[in-house]
Amino acid sequence: MLAHLQEWLELLVRWFHVIAGVAWIGTSFYFVWLNNHLRPPPREEGDVSGEVWSVHGGHFYRVIRFRVAPAQLPETLHWFKWEAYATWLSGASMLVLVYYLGSDGMLLGAGSDLSKAAAVGIGVGALVGGWLIYDLMCRSPLRRSPALFGLIGFGLATGLALALTELLSARAAYIHVGAVLGTCMAANVFFVIIPNQKIMVDAMIRGEEPDGRLGEAGALRSLHNNYMTLPVLFIMVSSHYPMTYGHAWNWAILAGISVAGAVVRHWFNVRGRGQQNVWAWPLAAVAIIALAFVTRPPTVEAVEGDVDFATVIHPIVQKRCTPCHARETTWPGFNGPQKGILLERPDEIRDQAENILKNAVTTQYMPLGNLTQITPEERALLGQWVRGGASID
Ligand code: HEC
Repeated sequence: MLAHLQEWLELLVRWFHVIAGVAWIGTSFYFVWLNNHLRPPPREEGDVSGEVWSVHGGHFYRVIRFRVAPAQLPETLHWFKWEAYATWLSGASMLVLVYYLGSDGMLLGAGSDLSKAAAVGIGVGALVGGWLIYDLMCRSPLRRSPALFGLIGFGLATGLALALTELLSARAAYIHVGAVLGTCMAANVFFVIIPNQKIMVDAMIRGEEPDGRLGEAGALRSLHNNYMTLPVLFIMVSSHYPMTYGHAWNWAILAGISVAGAVVRHWFNVRGRGQQNVWAWPLAAVAIIALAFVTRPPTVEAVEGDVDFATVIHPIVQKRCTPCHARETTWPGFNGPQKGILLERPDEIRDQAENILKNAVTTQYMPLGNLTQITPEERALLGQWVRGGASID
């Protein structure tokens, strides 16, 4: 019952996390779009540097942007920060619920010698350390060379992915790389963008000229956040695709996808400013095709004829899967049916046939880390049984 309640809590937090994330990324994309589509107003208008006209939901809008700030502030000024904070807080809660409080197997790699506490320390250390290093880079002269900054940042993130995939379970490693990037994004809002805006607004209220450098520092962080969005979103949804994190070269696949995501984001960014960027899409396409090729499933020998459930399939599943997918699990460190998947009774196994095919035959993500040492022949038999109609009679 407790495990069931925890799963419901996880579902609610996940739901909230996705909604908050959509709101955050939505406003972020909107403001990038806005900045890119500003055009000088037809008539000179004081401190106005650009305007955008748009129509949405049956209404017409005209948004103007000031060179630095308006002469006078309105009574209500809208800030955009809770989307970011709510996304981070719910994401961090999920990290705790799923990986730090969940089964050991979710956080620790198969056959890992680490204690759970050490693994949690590595995870939290990556989040804090990642932010500190990134923040230092932003304050160093490196911030003035965007290409070098991007290259070093990418190298560090890939190194982190490589290290984490060695130390933690593949899925936990992926999620932690995403969480490190997401933490940098949220911390950018919390520690730099919003405080700097506050200082600027306070100066204006005192009737002083706001310091433009503060705005620039915020804009740099904002730009970084923009490039990180697509890779982070990929990592978050990749949890549903064992072909990515379950692969032996999972860290390199993550790096490849991140490049494709950032390149596509770059194309949108410069296109909005009226520049052409012909290499972006071909590069992203080649990267994705190469990744699809690299992650292709290993070939499993075909088996001829019908496969009997009672004498062949059921014993394989009982031996290789049930230790972690039963009401009372027997594999140490895996408490309760993993992912809520039960593979005990014949009807339960039949109901999971497609999932068995995907996880144990095509991607070979299951059995986790092949702890129960399933053989290629057994995988082939499972595949043949599912493709032949998954009959249990
Ligand atoms: C050593 C423990 C262990 C063994 C053995 C094991 N699993 Fe799993 N299984 C897990 C864990 C842990 C998860 C959750 C992993 C995750 O969410 O990435 C999981 C998740 C799954 C899922 C859900 C994947 C998804 O869509 O998120 C399926 C299906 C599955 N296992 C099938 C199997 C089959 C079939 C076998 C036997 C061939 C098997 N498992 C053997 C631990 C195990």
